Amino acid sequence: MCGITGVFGTNASEKVFHGLKALEYRGYDSWGIAFPQKDSFFVKKEIGKIGLAKFSLPTSSTLAIGHTRWATHGNVSKKNAHPQFSNDKKIALVHNGIVENFEELKNKLISKGFSFFSDTDSEIIANLIQFNFKKTGSFEAAVRISLKEIEGGYAIVAIHLGENKLVCARNGSPLVLGFGENEFFVASDVSAFVSYTKQVLFLNDSELAVIDGEVKVFSVDSGKEKKFSLKKINWDIEQAKKGEFKHFMTKEIFEQPETLKLAIKQPEKDVSKFVKLIKSSKKVFLVGCGTSYHSCLSAAYFFSSISNVMVECCIASEFSRVEKFVDKNSLIIAVSQSGETADLLEAIKIAKKNNAKVLSIVNVMGSSVMRISDCYLLMNSGPEICVLSTKSYTSQIAVFLLLAYAVIGKEDEAKRIILKTASSVNSLLKTSDKKMKVLAKKLAKKNDIFVIGRHDAFPVALEAALKIKEVSYIHAEGFAGGELKHGTIALIDKGTPAIVISTPETRKLIVSNAIEMQSRGAFTIGFSSVENSNFDFNLVVPDVGFADAITRIVPIQLLAYYIAIEKNLDPDKPRNLAKSVTVK
Ligand code: F6R
Repeated sequence: MCGITGVFGTNASEKVFHGLKALEYRGYDSWGIAFPQKDSFFVKKEIGKIGLAKFSLPTSSTLAIGHTRWATHGNVSKKNAHPQFSNDKKIALVHNGIVENFEELKNKLISKGFSFFSDTDSEIIANLIQFNFKKTGSFEAAVRISLKEIEGGYAIVAIHLGENKLVCARNGSPLVLGFGENEFFVASDVSAFVSYTKQVLFLNDSELAVIDGEVKVFSVDSGKEKKFSLKKINWDIEQAKKGEFKHFMTKEIFEQPETLKLAIKQPEKDVSKFVKLIKSSKKVFLVGCGTSYHSCLSAAYFFSSISNVMVECCIASEFSRVEKFVDKNSLIIAVSQSGETADLLEAIKIAKKNNAKVLSIVNVMGSSVMRISDCYLLMNSGPEICVLSTKSYTSQIAVFLLLAYAVIGKEDEAKRIILKTASSVNSLLKTSDKKMKVLAKKLAKKNDIFVIGRHDAFPVALEAALKIKEVSYIHAEGFAGGELKHGTIALIDKGTPAIVISTPETRKLIVSNAIEMQSRGAFTIGFSSVENSNFDFNLVVPDVGFADAITRIVPIQLLAYYIAIEKNLDPDKPRNLAKSVTVK
């Protein structure tokens, strides 16, 4: 939700502009950049995607900040784009997060004579800093005091005209610093500067950093200086590029034969920790949002069928429902690609407050979820830039399968299944690509698509519908085959597409559900290892036992992609969506 960045060093403005392009996936309704020029700021703000910006910087600078926005407070307009400025035009600030007590702070500032020119809550912070600067005479102190007055999560980077420094801080929203040679970077994530340096510092919540040729870190609460140590990240700039592909979505779909293999390369000692806690905990909760929640649902089938362990799956934003059952004997496994999802972080806080143990499965190293967990496993998928989760989903399934088998001491069996699946996916991508293009043409003009599955294919139906709807804007609904006659069948009409996800165990019943729909005029599409003459369209997919979820979803990811292409939509950046949902 919004990408922010700042650079201290030569050609800072160019590097910020370049960094913003890499952060575009975090928000793409408008963008802006500011840097000091003699007695004022150079400012450029535009509506639309920075990737499409035809703009060259008029001059260079050694200090600059930038922002790419996903609107929360105020509509999409130039005045609401960041950077936002203080009334005296001396403070420029980029912000990610929501100021929950904005009304109270705004009224206070208005009573002190401040005016507001945007609808954003971020302008309040800039003015609050101006107000506190008058009292303290120190920019960093003014930022710190102002942040203490703010309720809600934030990440900010600010510049004060006349001072050659960046001041940045975080609480709840991600912020990472990069240490180059005589240059420093700060950004919502490392993709903004990974081409310049891999030496990073992940700021913790309530930490403020001053970058002025060196870096000092302070506690926002006490103002005391804190020690820090750098980490080396293992992501490569090439991984964050499209390469031969037109879109990140296809690139990431086609990476899956490799990412699946990487997902099962887990440190033995960490897997053992997970297993010990899964076995010893009285209650196990699997928590995530969106696609990550869907992988939890698949995992529930794995733990039940393979490990004989009962787990409760919870959508993170609904975690309060189970709060009273969470105690010191409970285990929470939090699942997240970004590791920054606000709802999930909130659920983890609730779990910790109740003394539960927290384990996580995350993709982004150094992310907030990873850092507040008692132990974590990385998905090892590499950067996922497309807003839609594809490779991270199948990696989550692979990690869960590994854990389910590890609980019964048969990790090797999971590895064998996933390696076989990776090779099957490799062939499947080749055999299904053209067919999915053809099918996409048939479906692109439809208003509704239904997806059914039973047992472990049910969560796949949910995930398939999510992929289709978010990228093609076609209403898509996934449900359990058995639920059909309990309501949804009323919507089936002549030509309504119905995707049927079939596995060897569920084949008989799901085929009869499909026939029920076909009798009402549905256009049935089967994803099964056996071609079935009852279906109007068949895609044969390989059976890979407990990893069937993977061989079923991969062609549907492709289908979703091609429907978007058919409709001339941008699959990497669907409307209204952002990659990392850092607001509740
Ligand atoms: C769907 C999608 C979202 C995310 C959800 C959770 O394609 O990407 O539903 O899965 O926002 O995000 P993470 O996994 O980063 O916590």
